[in-house]
Amino acid sequence: MLYQRFLFALLLLLSACAGSAAPTGDAERGRQLFNGEQSFTSANAPVCANCHFVRAEDGVMLGPNLAGVASAAGTRVVGQSAEQYLRTTLLDPDAYLVEGFQEGIMYRGYEEALTQQEVSDLIAYLLTLQ
Ligand code: HEC
Repeated sequence: MLYQRFLFALLLLLSACAGSAAPTGDAERGRQLFNGEQSFTSANAPVCANCHFVRAEDGVMLGPNLAGVASAAGTRVVGQSAEQYLRTTLLDPDAYLVEGFQEGIMYRGYEEALTQQEVSDLIAYLLTLQ
């Protein structure tokens, strides 16, 4: 009996934790934010597509081409899933430097500028770039 109550309490606790985790991302909304078809809540945040192409054939702008980033993301930092890496790289671009690119070019203010929902939407979109 006691054991069952403990399990029940544990389940409650786990579901409460899940509730406070990042919101579920909407990939289509992420795509629109990425391309500037929909504005960020904060007008200061630059559009991702100013610096990033997402089709391999388009080449490189200021930032790396993001074609295939969904697969690459999971291999960048040992112990970080693709989702974790993308979140970190968005909110703290200097945490990992993509080979061949310079520090300090990617906008550093997304952590303050973007809502949790916008971050999740962008990540959901990036995860479609297989
Ligand atoms: C002013 C130019 C600029 C803007 C705007 C910008 N980035 Fe970047 N981004 C870069 C550069 C340069 C790098 C590579 C340097 C580094 O790793 O910090 C990079 C790296 C990345 C990476 C890592 C790619 C990899 O292969 O590991 C991702 C993902 C990314 N950006 C996504 C975004 C998203 C999403 C946005 C919009 C919210 C955005 N960037 C806005 C310039 C930019």
